Amino acid sequence: MSDRPGPDRFPALIEFTDVAMTFRDAGRSFRAIDGLSLTIPRGQFCCVVGPSGCGKSTLLNMVAGLLEPTRGQVRYDGKPVAGANTRVGYVTQKDNLLPWRTVRANVRLPLELRGVGKAETDRRTDEVLDMVGLSGFGDAYPRQLSGGMRKRVTLARTLVYEPEVILADEPFGALDSQLRTVLQGELLGLRARTEATVLFITHDLGEAIALGDRVLVMSARPSRVLLDEPVTLPRPRDVRTARFDPEYARLHETLWAALSPEVETGVPA
Ligand SMILES: Nc1ncnc2c1ncn2[C@@H]1O[C@H](COP(=O)(O)OP(=O)(O)OP(=O)(O)O)[C@@H](O)[C@H]1O
Ligand SMILES: [Mg+2]
Repeated sequence: MSDRPGPDRFPALIEFTDVAMTFRDAGRSFRAIDGLSLTIPRGQFCCVVGPSGCGKSTLLNMVAGLLEPTRGQVRYDGKPVAGANTRVGYVTQKDNLLPWRTVRANVRLPLELRGVGKAETDRRTDEVLDMVGLSGFGDAYPRQLSGGMRKRVTLARTLVYEPEVILADEPFGALDSQLRTVLQGELLGLRARTEATVLFITHDLGEAIALGDRVLVMSARPSRVLLDEPVTLPRPRDVRTARFDPEYARLHETLWAALSPEVETGVPA
């Protein structure tokens, strides 16, 4: 039996209905997204690829309630998103660690805010720091870390409280390929255990296929969904060997054929 969640097994959790997002800056308006409709069922691992600047981070910001669409509606669990959406965990593109707190204190914060007891908080913090390969850096401050390490702390701070939805904005982009492979495996393991819904942005088509139940290709600005492909690789998956599956090669071709003209469109002349 497949353990892959699908629209038939789970109801819609995140819904975009005819969403447009226009930024106004210094008297100029700038259309980032236009006519975006999209439904993400509960439990799905949905990957999003698209040219730089097409609006991928904007998409996540709208689910997190940090941005309101200029037209259309974003709904979460049947209700319009209004204000900060505390039910999602967000690994942002830029890390936003608290500089005055150590690595351990940054990672513990979501558990402290939720009133989790000290012993449980200590245990989960140590576990997740170990998972991201930072157990030796608990007492360091963010300024003492490399970019990739800071990104891993951001990831740990989200995973530590096992949110029902993980929004991840290129979480592994700054990491070397070995570490990336390890963390991809950890994310799949955690997601299988917690049944979290994942909305995952990446520039790496291979990563999108190896991790996702589905890959969306966004167009260049104004952005909309250009291609919506299911990934039929079986689960549980080994991210190291997924690329040897013929389905991986077929999908890679299909996604690249849709994405490459958009990347060229997105490059300023
Ligand atoms: N607050 C803002 N004010 C004005 N323009 C913005 C704002 N936020 C985003 N934009 C513009 O909207 C477009 C989409 O931005 P966004 O950050 O969502 O792109 P992206 O797809 O995540 O890009 P990348 O792959 O480079 O991270 C960009 O052209 C950006 O300049
Ligand atoms: Mg972005």
